[in-house]
Amino acid sequence: MGVSELDVAIVHDGLASDAVALVDRLVDERVASQLAAQDPTLWGPAAQPEASIRLSWTTLHETSRPLLAEVEALAAELRAEGIDRVVLAGMGGSSLAPEVICATAGVPLVVLDTTDPGQVADALAGDLRRTVIVVSSKSGTTVETDSHRRIFESAFAQDGIDAASRIVVVTDPGSPLAETAGEAGYRKVFLADPNVGGRYSALTAFGLVPAGLAGADIAALLDDAAEAARVLAVDGADNPALRLAAALGAAHSVGAEKVVLADTGSGITGFADWAEQLIAESTGKEGTGLLPVVVENADAPGFADAGEDATPVALGPATGSARITTTGPLGGLFLLWEYATAVAGRLLGINPFDQPDVEAAKKAARALLDNPSPTGPTTAPNVVDGPVEVYASGNWMSAGVASVADALRAFLAAAPEHGYLAVQAYLDRIDDASTSLLRAELARRSGLQTTFGWGPRFLHSTGQYHKGGHQNGMFLQVTGAVVEDLDVPGRPYTLGELQRAQALGDGQVLAERKRPVLRLHLLDRLAGLAHVVKAVQEVRG
Ligand code: PA5
Repeated sequence: MGVSELDVAIVHDGLASDAVALVDRLVDERVASQLAAQDPTLWGPAAQPEASIRLSWTTLHETSRPLLAEVEALAAELRAEGIDRVVLAGMGGSSLAPEVICATAGVPLVVLDTTDPGQVADALAGDLRRTVIVVSSKSGTTVETDSHRRIFESAFAQDGIDAASRIVVVTDPGSPLAETAGEAGYRKVFLADPNVGGRYSALTAFGLVPAGLAGADIAALLDDAAEAARVLAVDGADNPALRLAAALGAAHSVGAEKVVLADTGSGITGFADWAEQLIAESTGKEGTGLLPVVVENADAPGFADAGEDATPVALGPATGSARITTTGPLGGLFLLWEYATAVAGRLLGINPFDQPDVEAAKKAARALLDNPSPTGPTTAPNVVDGPVEVYASGNWMSAGVASVADALRAFLAAAPEHGYLAVQAYLDRIDDASTSLLRAELARRSGLQTTFGWGPRFLHSTGQYHKGGHQNGMFLQVTGAVVEDLDVPGRPYTLGELQRAQALGDGQVLAERKRPVLRLHLLDRLAGLAHVVKAVQEVRG
């Protein structure tokens, strides 16, 4: 799971003295030891009630130990029954960590954090006789996860498989999901520590159960975290979490609102996606925060040429252009970034444990599901260009726009200074994977820091920042036609309708906040995407 020692290296630049002064202040204030001791007063009186029920993650390397034997026992039982395919249904903090753990360990885990009917159908098409589904939801109310549970339960039954014996639940005590699991007699319920929030839950049952069932070495993760915990609790200038937090805090105080994350050969697969959620959802609120920009590699646009408004962070060995480099084994890095993000929250003056703006998009999606044919700007396309419909929200669309390329030009011309572009694809992240190539292409041509997110996955991650953080984003949504939809048993909507409502709902909320939104709807996914790529290439760099 990674061999190197936990470390944060900071290349000295103009900010070195500010960051050093901040580290000294954090050491004087004994922030590291107080955080390790779970002091909820570190973020001020307003954050204290939430912080007092959110800090148990600092000791998970000890408190999660008893889980190891429980997970191993269940894994052995399942193996003995010939069940060796693990599907995980969970959003945000309930799936990002196990996905990184399994990808890094090289063990297969099918992650469902999508409402794309095609992607879910592909997961259903695997061998159900060998499948167990882990349904993970802290709140036990997340609509995507609940839909997956319903769909799989019914699919097992249709195949003549005892569905209850194939469903394992991870949730908080007393949640609606815990209740449902009890009533339905699901195979096993792992109750997680309720005093750990979703994005800090990598080393709770949320990270360890699916990863352990899939075959990853979860004991090694806790060992590495235990090693890191000793270092991270020290009030000293060498504490890597204090150094990372201070570097980010110092950069933010002089205008660096973005953190560009590039993997430079860490040996850890997908760590940036996990860190993206931690940073964005923890800091992006009250009109401030740090926007993580995950790029393909250290040569990608946005990293090597990061301007004054962005701090490059290499995950893995240092590169020439990196200003900050974090290295270490995965279990240690989880804890390092959690400490650093919590401390950065203190420096930014926000509560790193809430997500006040996530609910707005959920509410708008619910309203659209209740009334699927609203009147208003989302109903008729502004332009139809071959296989692509163009929908504009906001007043950036100029007269005379007749094509996707025209729309992109008008849209990008509306970019505010130091703004950013978020590309949000509500598509199948396996079959439509090439959509993510739009990030680098648009970054190169627009000169803007550009993020890429799969919807609705990003709604549980950067979605908080987009609505709550610095209000200088512009949003390019890509949606696509659904060829074969899936019913959600017991619900009055299909998965495709839910996916559409999530895209339109979030678009509406962003537009209400006066952010420019451009939606490109692919009437045919393949032809539509090719058309969009061509249009992007027509936009001059
Ligand atoms: O960090 C968070 O709190 C969120 O990203 C959640 O993890 C995500 O929304 C999923 O929530 P739940 O686990 O309640 O289904």
